[in-house]
Amino acid sequence: MARGQLLVSGILALCTTLCHAADDIKTLRVPDGPGPAAPVVGGSFVSYSIEFANFHDFVGNASHPNDLTLRLVQNLANVAGSYPRIRIGGSTANRATYVPDQEQAILLNFTTPGADQPTSLTWGPSWLRGFDVLPSKVKYTLGLPFNSGAAGEENTLASAKAAYGGLQDKLYAFQIGNEFDAIWAKQWLERSEAVMDMLSSSFNRGRDPIFQTGVFVPPGSITSDTSWTPQAAIENGVTSQGTVNSFSIHQYFGAACYATPTLASSILNHTWLETNMKFHEVTSNFMTLHGIKYIIGETNSIACQGLAGVSDVFGSALWAVDYALYAASLNVSSLHFHMGTGYRYSAWQPRLNGTTLPGPRPLYYGHLVAAEALAGGNKQVKILASEPSFSAYGIYTNGDAQKLRHIVLVDLREHLSSATARPTTRIRKGQVITAKRLSAPGVDARTDIEWAGQRVSDEGNVEGEVVLETVKGGDVELAAGEVVMLSFTPRCKSGHTRS
Ligand SMILES: *[C@@H]1O[C@H](CO)[C@@H](O)[C@H](O)[C@H]1NC(C)=O
Ligand SMILES: *[C@@H]1O[C@H](CO)[C@@H](O)[C@H](O)[C@H]1NC(C)=O
Ligand SMILES: *[C@@H]1O[C@H](CO)[C@@H](O)[C@H](O)[C@H]1NC(C)=O
Ligand SMILES: *[C@@H]1O[C@H](CO)[C@@H](O)[C@H](O)[C@H]1NC(C)=O
Ligand SMILES: *[C@@H]1O[C@H](CO)[C@@H](O)[C@H](O)[C@H]1NC(C)=O
Repeated sequence: MARGQLLVSGILALCTTLCHAADDIKTLRVPDGPGPAAPVVGGSFVSYSIEFANFHDFVGNASHPNDLTLRLVQNLANVAGSYPRIRIGGSTANRATYVPDQEQAILLNFTTPGADQPTSLTWGPSWLRGFDVLPSKVKYTLGLPFNSGAAGEENTLASAKAAYGGLQDKLYAFQIGNEFDAIWAKQWLERSEAVMDMLSSSFNRGRDPIFQTGVFVPPGSITSDTSWTPQAAIENGVTSQGTVNSFSIHQYFGAACYATPTLASSILNHTWLETNMKFHEVTSNFMTLHGIKYIIGETNSIACQGLAGVSDVFGSALWAVDYALYAASLNVSSLHFHMGTGYRYSAWQPRLNGTTLPGPRPLYYGHLVAAEALAGGNKQVKILASEPSFSAYGIYTNGDAQKLRHIVLVDLREHLSSATARPTTRIRKGQVITAKRLSAPGVDARTDIEWAGQRVSDEGNVEGEVVLETVKGGDVELAAGEVVMLSFTPRCKSGHTRS
């Protein structure tokens, strides 16, 4: 190692306060680089998905923009160095009908009052003005309806035509249908070809890829049929026409409508994360080998719009950091956290919903932390530790001699706000670093969350001074239910030596 450089690899020693003997010290081996298989992660890795029926709630329109959404998206871009991508879709995209002469942007038809989602909806041309609200660098993936028969095809084509005309360069991809299961390959190809023909005749557009295909859940998650896999979709020819730019799969870590997951059994459980990510590891490697971008295109903690006490508390922020960095270590090119108005797992509530105030939710803090760890893109992530309640990630800059940029430590222990004692882990390291901490009174907290001393107000403003903990020689403490991000300056004044 050249004189004057920081030690960028080595060993971190971890000792929990509950243990005293020397053999209770865990060590974290930190390699020089992420290894040859690590993919390069872009700055928009942490991205969003918004329920079709609620997009207008989230953005408003050009004359009445939703300032909260504008600020929260901008905060994330300020940290990450690029804007999140946004997918508009979900179950309500299947139930959407384009009505060319409808004056109102969108009309939602609720057959069950108070339900999370309308039974059907219609939208008119002014709905597209919602795409003028966020900065023009934000790119969208839009879900088109996929009903069968001539009327179904007509609706797909009319929706695609209006949307393409309105979005133009802001459109990254169209999806056709949401969570359609087996045997759609033939129908999907016919429908996507019909859209391609329409784009060619109406807009003189060539055959550059414009579809994001897949858009289903991992096999076995809804029905016991496990035959319908992404590999089967490829074998059935969904990419054979050369019109597909990416493959999307959805992921949740439990479902509120089938069972009642708990924080400890679902999201504060790194073992469960690993179990679920096995599928994405195998599938993303397969897609990468076939030259197709693999996206986790709709995801969040607990399906069926989330679960209060799990999806909307601080534990979800810890989970989001763990999940995002884990996924970033695989061949996954972006992660789209889904949200809708009133959904328990939304990273923010876009407007007053009943008595629920608009504002950021705990999950949003997890997004800020993960985005900061991957800031600037061109990052590579290596998993350094994977234990049931603890994980650690090394974040490296691709192609930089001084590669190690951050180590992110995630303590997933279920420390509740009401608990008196809070166990901690001490981290002993060998070089000058700074630390930032994501903390709250407990994993069940909905308020009083801080990321390095800063909070995000209900209006979406980041408030307070950044608190950087300087770590020189001494130990860093990580409490139960916290995240700490250690940062290593890329270049350093001469004179530092390894200690
Ligand atoms: C924009 O939103 C406001 C408030 O919801 C509404 O009154 C107005 O009609 C909308 N404008 C357009 C062009 O849809
Ligand atoms: C609302 O949905 C119900 C149930 O699908 C349907 O019968 C009704 O026609 C719909 N109303 C409108 C205005 O679309
Ligand atoms: C949002 O409003 C709907 C309809 O009034 C209600 O059923 C739901 O519980 C509300 N959600 C939240 C999080 O307040
Ligand atoms: C965590 O998930 C694993 C794998 O599903 C499961 O065996 C274990 O019981 C879970 N832990 C808790 C505390 O529920
Ligand atoms: C990414 O995919 C390629 C091609 O399948 C594979 O060689 C590589 O090992 C994968 N990387 C990871 C981290 O799995």
